[in-house]
Amino acid sequence: MENTAIGTAIGKIILIGEHSVVYGQPAIAIPFTKTSVKTIISSGNGPVKLDCFYHKGSIFTAPKELLGLTTVIKEVINSFNEKLEDFNIKIESSIPPERGMGSSAAVAAATVRALFKFFNQELKKEELIKWTNISEKIVHGNPSGIDTALVVDERPLYFIKDKPLIPFIFRLKAYLIVADTGKPSKTQKAVANVRDFINTRPREGKEIINNLGLLTKEARSLIVKEGLEKLGQVMTKAHKLLDQLGISNRDLNNLVSTALDNQALGAKLTGGGQGGCMIALASTKDQAMGLANKLMESGAKNTWIYNMGVD
Ligand code: MEV
Repeated sequence: MENTAIGTAIGKIILIGEHSVVYGQPAIAIPFTKTSVKTIISSGNGPVKLDCFYHKGSIFTAPKELLGLTTVIKEVINSFNEKLEDFNIKIESSIPPERGMGSSAAVAAATVRALFKFFNQELKKEELIKWTNISEKIVHGNPSGIDTALVVDERPLYFIKDKPLIPFIFRLKAYLIVADTGKPSKTQKAVANVRDFINTRPREGKEIINNLGLLTKEARSLIVKEGLEKLGQVMTKAHKLLDQLGISNRDLNNLVSTALDNQALGAKLTGGGQGGCMIALASTKDQAMGLANKLMESGAKNTWIYNMGVD
């Protein structure tokens, strides 16, 4: 057993394909290195204490928001034949929780990595996927696995549920502005709402899901061809379809309109939606910085600028 062990993981951004990915359509996601999680495990006395965004105290009194994480911690420790005592877990994160940036998967993955180091156990990639998915299933209900794949693989992915991961060369002379509405995105609820939509309006629901899949495929070939302007238009079309599915809201639509009114090439919500973050595409850094300012003026609580390839 080590005295201290650290595990890290990064956030993710879904460029296109959220929600339809749950129904077998492809999605494109990229690692978002501007945000990350660090889990520090150190020796202690007595029952394990947790120190993180949602809770500071015994792991046994953690709130329901942490059920995915505490379940995976308990199961990992069980698999080592160890007890939940004599160590403490501190989680530092710059990934805002419930914003569609993969916070829950990143927290689980960073913590599993730290636990394996602390107990001197070798961690294989497949095991990390398995453990992270245990948490994701509790947090999201019916996850496609895209968040886990991204935090484990840390490479841009063209992701199809239950298929081998397809890494994706992603180098565009472009910038992505990520803006946070400051409101939570409850992925589990949003995924359930989409399911209800499809159950009550099957023809319309399935058509939207298929069209989102077609847009994702188009986005993939546009990225390869560096067709920036068209890629922006494809993103905006995807946003409109997600809005029809009930996945956008007034805050997200407001930020998307602000971006489009200020020369963004395209804009859409990202991740679970109904809150959380949106993304906008810009071709130069100056344009990206201008857009970030406009989005803040328009109510965004935070923005990040992501260089999609080369300066
Ligand atoms: C959440 O990051 C992405 C969703 O498509 C859900 C999932 O794929 O599990 C909304």
